Amino acid sequence: MAENRTAKLEFDGKTLELPILSPSLGPDVIDISKLYAQGGVFTHDPGFTSTSACESTITFIDGNKGELLHRGYPIDQLAEKSHFLEVCYLLLYGELPSVTELEDFELRVTRHTMVHEQMHNFFRGFRRDAHPMATMVGVVGAMSAFYHDSTDISDPWQREVASIRLIAKLPTIAAMAYKYSIGQPFVYPRNDCDYATNFLRMCFAVPAEEYQPDPILSRAMDRIFTLHADHEQNASTSTVRLAGSSGANPFACIAAGIACLWGPAHGGANQACLEMLQEIGTPDRIPEYIARAKDKDDPFRLMGFGHRVYKNFDPRATVMKQSADEVLDLLGIEDNPTLQVAKELERQALDDPYFTEKKLFPNVDFYSGIILEAIGFPTSMFTPIFALSRTVGWVAQWKEMIGDPAGKIGRPRQLYTGATLRDYVDIENR
Ligand code: CMC
Repeated sequence: MAENRTAKLEFDGKTLELPILSPSLGPDVIDISKLYAQGGVFTHDPGFTSTSACESTITFIDGNKGELLHRGYPIDQLAEKSHFLEVCYLLLYGELPSVTELEDFELRVTRHTMVHEQMHNFFRGFRRDAHPMATMVGVVGAMSAFYHDSTDISDPWQREVASIRLIAKLPTIAAMAYKYSIGQPFVYPRNDCDYATNFLRMCFAVPAEEYQPDPILSRAMDRIFTLHADHEQNASTSTVRLAGSSGANPFACIAAGIACLWGPAHGGANQACLEMLQEIGTPDRIPEYIARAKDKDDPFRLMGFGHRVYKNFDPRATVMKQSADEVLDLLGIEDNPTLQVAKELERQALDDPYFTEKKLFPNVDFYSGIILEAIGFPTSMFTPIFALSRTVGWVAQWKEMIGDPAGKIGRPRQLYTGATLRDYVDIENR
């Protein structure tokens, strides 16, 4: 990261020289960290559209090219040739594992899949009709009350154990949230199943009947996990980093990430998208919804469309679309009406200058819901599945932040436009 070039900023008769940092990929970054100390001004960037908040070596996105790299490896290669736990290793430790490293990692994750038995009681405190995301925010936050021996962030061993626990237990917690919501008994994890199969089994097996998913479904599930594993400094990851910057324990930080992910502009879009496709119902109603999405007086947006960073296509959506075709084919779901609406909506939107000029393309959430619904998940489980997949990304970014010697508590400033100084007025005089 060379620092020999500077940008000149002139204002109010002052001239400041700001270092320009060169990344290994992506646009140069002007370092403004000394701007307030030297110039007495802040920068203003709501939504952080032009702001780099950290240095990172984990994930790179080129939104114009539609490129997503984890530690340099393209997502389409990882989705095709790798699998979720190997990608977890790559995100956490920076390199693809050897055979023995992967075996050891898989063993460590597998050994941590059960949750503390007393957590079962904790689940039972929720209303049956609680959204599984609500349950997950609470239960993951509560992990810090169950795993005291991995909350000291100054101890690298405890940080490692917390990371493995989170990756291992999130599928169990998500499956328990689901089982609780439908009034079925919890299904314990099985160490002889792979990560995706284990999750499917914990969701769909019952004590009275085993569940053995077709390998194509397990593969599709694993691919959904892989495609969501990390995505640079998005809203929930930035939330995890900001929470972690105060020294909060990792379980609290990941719970904060889950809360942020829930919103429909972020991870909640997969549920909102499938519900929208079902509401549209038939291709003849698509023009009505496209017109609504274009109407500035209507808050409706095409869910699963658009992205802050991708201005060409979302490479995850391409893989997801292929996966949707494979899964529906396997399950013999021909002419799935939701898939027909999705394909036609994509076609019509991409033929419309409103969407092409604003560079709005289908994102990862556009097709994922179709796969998840075909596998048998209700829409309320879509975002919990995103959360369990993204946990490794949050953990990798949190670990990177904790290990960064330049790390400081996150503390944005503001452009204050409120009342100026005034004296308190007694209530009888107001
Ligand atoms: N439908 C209709 N118009 C849209 C859409 C959409 N889905 N997305 C953006 N626009 C318009 C928006 O109205 C604005 O128009 P104008 O410039 O005339 O005011 C323009 O496109 C730029 O939008 P923006 O809101 O300034 O862009 P952003 O980068 O702040 O928002 C986004 C990105 C993903 C929040 C937004 O595209 C959106 O709300 N999409 C629908 C929700 C969705 O699918 N979210 C999942 C994102 S991918 C998974 C994840 O990150 O979790």
